[in-house]
Parts: sequence; structure tokens; C-alpha cells
Amino acid sequence: MKAILCEKRGGLEDLRWADAPDPSPGPGEVVIDVRAAGVNFADLLMTQGLYQVRPPLPFSPGFEVCGTVTEIGVEVDGLRLGDRVVAFTGWGGYAERVKAQAGSVFPAPPGLSDTEAATFLVAYGTAYHALVDRAALRPSEVLVVLGASGGVGTAAVQLGRILDATVVAAVSSEEKAEFAHRMGASTVIRYDREDLKEAIRRVTDGRGADVVFDPVGGATTEQAFRALAWEGRLLVVGFAAGEIPGVPANLPLLKSASLVGVFWGAFAERRPDRVARQLELLASWVDQHGLRPPVTEVFPLSEAPQALRLVAERRVLGRLALTP
Ligand SMILES: NC(=O)c1ccc[n+]([C@@H]2O[C@H](COP(=O)([O-])OP(=O)(O)OC[C@H]3O[C@@H](n4cnc5c(N)ncnc54)[C@H](OP(=O)(O)O)[C@@H]3O)[C@@H](O)[C@H]2O)c1
Repeated sequence: MKAILCEKRGGLEDLRWADAPDPSPGPGEVVIDVRAAGVNFADLLMTQGLYQVRPPLPFSPGFEVCGTVTEIGVEVDGLRLGDRVVAFTGWGGYAERVKAQAGSVFPAPPGLSDTEAATFLVAYGTAYHALVDRAALRPSEVLVVLGASGGVGTAAVQLGRILDATVVAAVSSEEKAEFAHRMGASTVIRYDREDLKEAIRRVTDGRGADVVFDPVGGATTEQAFRALAWEGRLLVVGFAAGEIPGVPANLPLLKSASLVGVFWGAFAERRPDRVARQLELLASWVDQHGLRPPVTEVFPLSEAPQALRLVAERRVLGRLALTP
């Protein structure tokens, strides 16, 4: 088969479209013919050697795919040859075929196209786990989403709206602001132009945010934490800005506030049963609420480095996907 191979951790110029050995399923595993691969920020971090998981070289990046089950290993229940599925692969998805643990493979939502399904599991799984399990977001609470036009950001905006929160999006350009409005944010903050803490206070009449969804990190995290309401929760989702922030411990004390960690991949490994139930609910919202990832560009798999470059340059609106 053909795959994108990372032979050296570092720059995107070291990725190659090359021949790779066909995967074969071990116990508890299946092989999937890839119909589409989602492009995730983690794919970029993994090629740079900056992600918490460092696959042995050479490897294919590719956190998640949509595809067809074509081989089934021993000790696998509940999956059949020909099933259209989505899978959390961790890496390996930027290829014509990939193997996955059966527990990380779920039915693809029928209402979504292949590229939409390939960008659904991780972002919407993460946003749901963050907002519902970790923050216990309640209707009419104010949810502020940072990086709101990006992958997990867009998912948090759309889910926040469905969960009846008041959704405030924070983004860094006019184009991203318009996009976040279209995704369902009722108010948009431009944190490239205005101090984030002041802006959150301004749009909440001084009360502050109940929940902040933060996939950005860096200096914005402390500003956002300082703009929490009494008993507010800041969800630590990621560090797209490249810097892991420190928050002084007096800040949670002063407002009875919480810094809440979110690690969907580890949650999915520990509780595949809960992820399966959550994905079923999210798939029902595709029909009920028109929930779908905004895939704004699709590249051939062989051009994955170009897609990852857009992610690195902070130029993506919504989601990118790859097709063989
Ligand atoms: N904890 C979990 O379980 C989990 C799950 C999935 C993803 N994540 C993490 O969440 C983060 C975002 O992932 P994503 O897939 O949503 O990425 P994405 O689509 O590229 O979005 C990231 C957003 O971050 C903002 N940003 C700020 N500074 C940036 C910079 N220097 N470079 C790039 N973007 C920057 C951008 O919005 P503005 O330009 O508007 O600021 C961008 O839209 C990543 O760190 C990822 O690893 C965590």
C-alpha cells in the first residue's frame, strides 16, 4: 500500500508518500481500508516529535479515519467485514490501510459523508467529554470557546449551542469571526485586538464566564481564568499556541473556580463503552440538530504535508480531510 511516512521527526519536508507494508490484524484488531483521514493538530505535533506519544520511526501520522473493515483479527466481537466505521487510530491513518484496536472502532454516523465522518470522532468526542463529563455545563451558562474556528473549537461551539449554553467565541481574525458566527456563536471576541479578560467581562456585563474551553494555552489561559465567574471552570484541552501556561493557585481559590483537565484519548482507552454511547448520541444529533463538522478543504492523501502546513500556519477554518 501507499502511505505518508515520517522517517525523521522535525519538519513537514521530511514526510514522504511512499510504499509501506500492508498492516495485518493482531488479536483484538481490525484492518480498515481508509476512505478518508481527518487532519488533526496532534498529527502535526507527532511529526514534530512534540506529542506525548512518539511512535517508532518510520511511522504514518493519522489520528483518525473513516473507512471499511476489510480484515478482522481473533478475539474481535461486534464488527463485520464491510462495516463502514470511524476509528481512533492514534497514528497510521494517513495511509490506504490502517489497523486499529476493535475498542477504538465505532459505526460511522450514516448522515455524514466520509470526510465529515473522518473528522467527527475525536473533535466531537473531545468537546462532548469536556463540556458534559468534565465541566457539567448547564443550560444558559456562558461558555467561552478559545480558538473557536478550529477543529475542537468549532465542535465546542456547535455542542454548546445544542446544550443551550450562551456561546461566546474567541478568535484571531475577521474571517474566523464570521465563521464562528455561522457555526452558532451568539457573540464573538477578537482576542488579537482586545484584552481577552476585559472582552469576556464586557460581553457578560461584568459577570464572567461559567465555562472556558481552552485548546490554545499560552498567555490567553491566565487571562481567561481571570475572567471566570464564581464557580467557573476552565477546561484545559490543548496548547495550540505552543506554550504550556502556569496559573497562579490563588486564582481558583478567589472564585471557587476550577482548572479541569481533558484528555479524550486516555478517556477513550479507559472507557470505550462510554465513548460508544456518546458517539451514538452525537450521531443522533446529526439528524436532529444538523450537527456536522465543517470540512472546508479536502486534499489527496499524498498531499498531506500541504494540509498540515495550513494547520501549522494557523490558516484553517473548520476541518481539513484527506482522501486516498
Ligand atoms: N485534550 C484532548 O483530549 C484533545 C483532543 C483533541 C485536540 N486537542 C488539542 O487541542 C488543540 C487544538 O486542536 P485542533 O485540532 O482544534 O487544532 P486547530 O484546528 O488547528 O485549531 C487550533 C486553534 O488554535 C488557535 N491558535 C492559537 N495560536 C496558535 C498557533 N500558534 N498555531 C496554531 N493555532 C493557534 C487558532 O485559532 P485563532 O487563530 O483564532 O487563535 C486555531 O484555530 C491541539 O493542541 C490539540 O492537540 C486536545
